[in-house]
Amino acid sequence: MRKLQNVLVTGGAGFIGANFIHYLLAQPQFSGRVINLDALTYAGNLDNLVQIDRRYGAGATPAPANTTGGATPNTDRSGAAPARYVFERADIRDFTAVTDVFKRYEVDTVVHFAAESHVDRSIVGPRAFIETNVNGTFNLLEAARAAWAHRDDVLFHHVSTDEVFGSLGAEGAFSEETPYDPKSPYSASKASSDHLVRAHGHTFGLPFTISNCSNNYGPYQFPEKMVPLMILNALERKDLPVYGDGRNVRDWLYVEDHSAAIWTVLQRGATGETYLVGGENEWENIRLVRAICEKVAAALGEPPQRYTQLIRFVKDRPGHDQRYAVNCGKIKRELGWHQRHEFSSGLDSTIAWYRDNPEWVQRVRSGAYKDWIEANYAGR
Ligand code: NAD
Ligand code: TYD
Repeated sequence: MRKLQNVLVTGGAGFIGANFIHYLLAQPQFSGRVINLDALTYAGNLDNLVQIDRRYGAGATPAPANTTGGATPNTDRSGAAPARYVFERADIRDFTAVTDVFKRYEVDTVVHFAAESHVDRSIVGPRAFIETNVNGTFNLLEAARAAWAHRDDVLFHHVSTDEVFGSLGAEGAFSEETPYDPKSPYSASKASSDHLVRAHGHTFGLPFTISNCSNNYGPYQFPEKMVPLMILNALERKDLPVYGDGRNVRDWLYVEDHSAAIWTVLQRGATGETYLVGGENEWENIRLVRAICEKVAAALGEPPQRYTQLIRFVKDRPGHDQRYAVNCGKIKRELGWHQRHEFSSGLDSTIAWYRDNPEWVQRVRSGAYKDWIEANYAGR
């Protein structure tokens, strides 16, 4: 069992990274420190970590006047007890900044989430995906290599996606042996990053693990992705845009189960190994959108047709992968991980979360939060 002390989480202000920080700091076996390194792109939001900062940060400072219940940037608050959670605003492409973080916090573990993550954006503007996912990951690997030149009690865990394996037909599932065949700029950039991690392991002896996970859903997901988009549009009685014929299939996993899988790999995963993670929970998009409509209707005590009538079949995504499915036998067999959340209750609690957090939704949509960050971090 590995003992983790100073865990550098990149992209910790995003959807899965923030959920992972909540999960990690709640583990009784974890007594170390989390350093959240995030550039705060449109997808990064410190609101996701307000309670974490209050509970584990070095001390609260008042929220800025132009925000409601806003997060407090965790700068160096000297004199206070050492914080178990610190935030560092930095870009993974910035070698000097990343190296400085490795040194200052004596990082022994990296959990690398930071990425451009939305396929549709990678079609509109692929360059950012190459810059962050490929160059940024390379930069982070180089910083880890330099910082860890004389250490072997360290681990670089790379968080990746099942999309690197391409698209399936009606049968079968991806496994650790499936050849890479990425089809979108997003998945190609993630595939590149996976290869770079393995190359650093093979060539330079960098201790690493990789997990490739299927589609996540749950709280704090930016409402451009399918599940929160459909939930919020339904709640607001807006159109529900289903791409193509809606017959594409995704495998869905509750984000906390993904966090648990990563935590399991960090503790017990064999160095140099890859683990596939999934929900074993395949849904055609159109079926899932209908299920969301039914659940929203039930939650509001209204007839489902009120919501299903909002469904619109729209122009398909170019190069739309048909089907993803994951065989996660290896992580189950070898490390004893399994999914805990049932899909129906996971969706119910996700819908409840979006209903209960209109302020969060309003802030990520309006960009006010981003303006606040720019004003507060200008020049850093
Ligand atoms: P997200 O878009 O919600 O969050 C990404 C985070 O990375 C944001 O906080 C953003 O500010 C930060 N970031 C982006 N560029 C950066 C840079 N250059 N430097 C520093 N920080 C930067 O993404 P997510 O959905 O939470 O995904 C996290 C990771 O998990 C990604 O690597 C993604 O490929 C992988 N993944 C996601 C899913 C999914 O269903 N969302 C499934 C499998 C794997
Ligand atoms: P998404 O959440 O973007 O994840 P990914 O593309 O990484 O799987 O999309 C999930 C599925 O839903 C995918 O098949 C595309 C489809 N989709 C829609 O039909 N409408 C939408 O508005 C969105 C965002 C996605």
